[in-house]
Amino acid sequence: MSLFEHPEFDHHEEVVFCHDEESGLKAIIAVHDTTLGPSLGGTRLWNYSSSAEALTDVLRLSRGMTYKSAMAGLPLGGGKAVIIGDAKSIKSDALFRAYGRFINSLGGKYITAEDVNIRTSDIDIVAQETRHVAGTADKAGDPSPHTALGTYLGVKAAAKHRLGSEDLSGVKIAVQGLGAVGYAFAKYCRDDGAELIVTDINEETLERAKSELDATVVGLDEIYGVDADIYAPCALGATINDETLKQLKCKIIAGSANNQLANPKHDKVVKDMGILYAPDYVINAGGVIHVCSEAADMSLEETDKRVRDIYNTLDKLFARAKEEDRPTGELADQMAREIIANAK
Ligand SMILES: NC(=O)c1ccc[n+]([C@@H]2O[C@H](COP(=O)([O-])OP(=O)(O)OC[C@H]3O[C@@H](n4cnc5c(N)ncnc54)[C@H](O)[C@@H]3O)[C@@H](O)[C@H]2O)c1
Repeated sequence: MSLFEHPEFDHHEEVVFCHDEESGLKAIIAVHDTTLGPSLGGTRLWNYSSSAEALTDVLRLSRGMTYKSAMAGLPLGGGKAVIIGDAKSIKSDALFRAYGRFINSLGGKYITAEDVNIRTSDIDIVAQETRHVAGTADKAGDPSPHTALGTYLGVKAAAKHRLGSEDLSGVKIAVQGLGAVGYAFAKYCRDDGAELIVTDINEETLERAKSELDATVVGLDEIYGVDADIYAPCALGATINDETLKQLKCKIIAGSANNQLANPKHDKVVKDMGILYAPDYVINAGGVIHVCSEAADMSLEETDKRVRDIYNTLDKLFARAKEEDRPTGELADQMAREIIANAK
């Protein structure tokens, strides 16, 4: 398994392979870039089929965090960690404490938080060994409300550029996933006059959306083909793919889900279809801004202001993409690299 020749290796500053025999810990911490500040990114626990697959994921995700924090104007770099194993059987106090000691050995260059399969209670155990954690139960708490607010404001910025007005009255929005972020996001849009078409695997949530938000419910696979102005993926990643692109009738893709494009090539495909895409890590940055408020001791007002700035960031991004006739995802990556280069 090569590292420096790896296709996802992108001048990462440090990649640490962590092993603790006794607890069974196998983890990789990747610090991508600390130009703007200590690297911050969650720990993902996943049953990777090989350590090569885990390495690919952590290299890619840590670079994504660098771009996400740079575009959100945060004093943070990008990092990420993966623990390899089955979430149902591998978790123990000993494992998370051993993991915490590895994080501590990096001296603050990497700050961890929650990600897939990691709960606040797990982070609380890690915090017994290191102070380089964010998102512990007694501090910043749930980031979802801020993610929902940022996503709603991002949708308004997209509507301004593609529909001619940021007013959402009568705008049809197809929301996929009404979880912690999706429901609050849908409510903001509804309160702004939008008409909602929604789907979820949870029947109870759908009933609630029908009565509280006057939403029209459709089947899980029907959401792509509905007659909507905006498709808002707020559940799963990779829902923009060759199959779904054949069905989409929308003018805008803007939602909270991470890794929305199944393949980077879809960035250009979407543009060529006349769809305005709000790059996922820009529009869903409310969560990392919220977590950063704990790591960087930001006041509530400052945190709120930075979440609201997502509108301005996307406004500038969309204007520049139009001027340069370029896909928005590619341009967002470039803008993030420019922010880091200027800081250097
Ligand atoms: N929570 C945050 O602050 C945050 C921050 C950044 C990005 N995100 C991303 O936003 C998305 C939503 O996060 P969340 O915290 O609301 O998660 P969540 O688990 O609370 O909600 C996900 C919702 O999607 C539904 N769902 C699952 N499979 C589905 C399917 N096939 N079709 C339709 N709906 C389905 C679930 O029933 C649930 O209601 C995720 O992709 C997450 O990575 C979240």
